[in-house]
Amino acid sequence: MQPDSRFSTAAPAIALDKVELSLGSGAARVHILKGISLNIGQGEAVGLVGPSGSGKSSLLMVLAGLEQSDGGSVVVAGQQLAGLDEDSLARFRGRHVGIVFQAFHLIPTMTALENVAVPLELAGRADAFERARAELTQVGLGHRLDHYPSQLSGGEQQRVAVARALAPEPAILVADEPTGNLDETTGQQIMELIFSAQARRGATLVIVTHDLALARRCDRTVRLRSGQIEESALIGGDAAGDAA
Ligand SMILES: Nc1ncnc2c1ncn2[C@@H]1O[C@H](COP(=O)(O)OP(=O)(O)OP(=O)(O)O)[C@@H](O)[C@H]1O
Ligand SMILES: [Mg+2]
Repeated sequence: MQPDSRFSTAAPAIALDKVELSLGSGAARVHILKGISLNIGQGEAVGLVGPSGSGKSSLLMVLAGLEQSDGGSVVVAGQQLAGLDEDSLARFRGRHVGIVFQAFHLIPTMTALENVAVPLELAGRADAFERARAELTQVGLGHRLDHYPSQLSGGEQQRVAVARALAPEPAILVADEPTGNLDETTGQQIMELIFSAQARRGATLVIVTHDLALARRCDRTVRLRSGQIEESALIGGDAAGDAA
């Protein structure tokens, strides 16, 4: 595996080795990820691309600790996730990973402020509401703190979701088509927020997208096909021989 020289000085933020994933039961069981090996450096931004059904969301779920692989090794932020139980995975996510989904996934009965603050409170942060307010102000929603998700536009809801993901200051940010439900201008604003927060905090970013222009803003694109890495290419550089 050829490490990317720009990111190889420290241990990788994400190290996947021969990762396997099958989901569903009986006749509906699908072999989704087939031997994925991939290192992602600290502070690196990777665009995960590939056809529909190629396993992009599934791979994101595995490295975010939302889905347990059933083969291979998944080391994220120095922790081996393979074999962890649900409680340990939840603790791992709370400490290390911020997640943004296409469909926002806000809690409808909580205000914007509560959506961001409650996970911080659960993680034991005494300054949960203060931090949440600061984070929402940072994404331009300081004037919408007490609105419920149904009272916010799609772009505003995604801003809340971005604030929620960023508030615990995670080392790793993952986003699954975060602009997929938004118009182009709003989507670009969301991307600016995600990329600028990533750069400012030196976080590692893995973003699934169908938008090639967006993928090109990353340091590297990784292309999946049928559950395998087809290509791993540095942006503005040569194709890296990183795909196992
Ligand atoms: N819970 C599940 N049970 C069975 N099969 C599943 C499950 N989740 C996903 N799959 C299958 O795994 C394959 C990969 O799905 P995945 O959602 O990872 O693809 P994707 O690359 O994100 O596609 P898209 O671009 O359409 O979002 C698909 O064929 C899908 O049908
Ligand atoms: Mg998907």
